[in-house]
Amino acid sequence: MKKEEERATSERAARSEFAERRRGGEPEASAKSGERRRTPGRRATDAIAPIDVQDAFVALTDGILIVDSHGKIASANPAAFRILGEDRLRGQKFEELLLVSGATTVQETRGHRVRRAWFPREDRMGVLEIVSTTLGQRGWLHTVRDVTAQAELLRLKEDFLLQVAHELRTPIAALTATLDLLYDDALTMSRDALGSMVSTLRRSALRLEHLVENLLDAGSIEAGTFQVRAMPTSVRQSLQDALVFVQPLLDSKRQEIVTQLHAESDRVLADQRRTSQVLANLIANASKYSPEETKITVSSATREGFVRITIADEGPGIPADEQTRLFQRFFRSREVRDQAGGLGLGLTICRAIVHAQGGEIGIESAPGRGTSVHFTLPKARQLTEEAATE
Ligand SMILES: Nc1ncnc2c1ncn2[C@@H]1O[C@H](COP(=O)(O)OP(=O)(O)OP(=O)(O)O)[C@@H](O)[C@H]1O
Ligand SMILES: [Mg+2]
Repeated sequence: MKKEEERATSERAARSEFAERRRGGEPEASAKSGERRRTPGRRATDAIAPIDVQDAFVALTDGILIVDSHGKIASANPAAFRILGEDRLRGQKFEELLLVSGATTVQETRGHRVRRAWFPREDRMGVLEIVSTTLGQRGWLHTVRDVTAQAELLRLKEDFLLQVAHELRTPIAALTATLDLLYDDALTMSRDALGSMVSTLRRSALRLEHLVENLLDAGSIEAGTFQVRAMPTSVRQSLQDALVFVQPLLDSKRQEIVTQLHAESDRVLADQRRTSQVLANLIANASKYSPEETKITVSSATREGFVRITIADEGPGIPADEQTRLFQRFFRSREVRDQAGGLGLGLTICRAIVHAQGGEIGIESAPGRGTSVHFTLPKARQLTEEAATE
């Protein structure tokens, strides 16, 4: 009973101090509580004072509300006013407030309940977590926390997992269906039919490889462990390697690659595998987002110690307001999202590779006028010079 009284007294003190602070004055209780902390006999240097309830109550970033046994909000700290809005709290019953917000219970044990509710934030709707603990006869203590950022992160993660699963499903389905056909009829099939089956298998396997590589690279870029090994490399060779990956894609849409590569802009200082990965990603985009039977041009030019490679397509182009976001992880344009699959990682990875090699990457595009993506690589010395010094 004594404890009960003590608690009630300290709560009353906290309320009056908080009211005082809200009026802008210095709390009258602080001198007293200061005295209380200096217990006789305790050395000031090593003593840890008990926490000052009032200060903690005011400083907390979580909102705290005490609701009496009639459901009326008896007291609230500044964070509660900030999160829920002072006007909404005044004269309100807390449970009615939650009812309006459509709160749902996510966890419940005896005397303890966790709920989530929507609530209006300054800019948009947010998610609130309400943890309620019974105070017995005296009502309830509610803690309210703005968990909008965590909820959004969770949703993004779930969306991403769904998207990955969706992206994996298409090539896996093609692999199993084709393998089933081969298993049944391989021995009686014509050479042409067999050839087309094998090319489907190859396309699906390459798509899986591309997806997994992109996922792993995106992970290492995020973790800061992404590395490139630059050495004298041929642009033409990098393009050949890239075409091994993307040719099946181009063939399936009857698209043609036109190359305008100049001998003097062939030698660059770059990681060959990574450079062909950039080319493969950019040509795959040009193919994926353009109609059938269109042309994709890959050209090169030398400028101020750099080789500039451009991949131009005859596709739909990208709206101006979206162009600044293309290199963001997971960003996919609303124009093409539903037409072609993808995770929104390709350009992020291209940019990381190009920057790691000392170059820059950019996009010029206009709706209806195609897209042109360029990147630069440091020019390497000529082959003859290299051979002489090797
Ligand atoms: N050549 C292009 N034409 C039109 N839109 C493009 C082109 N290249 C990229 N985009 C737009 O930029 C977005 C991001 O491209 P990015 O390559 O990063 O991802 P993705 O192609 O969607 O998926 P992923 O490359 O991970 O398979 C695309 O979703 C598309 O909206
Ligand atoms: Mg892409």
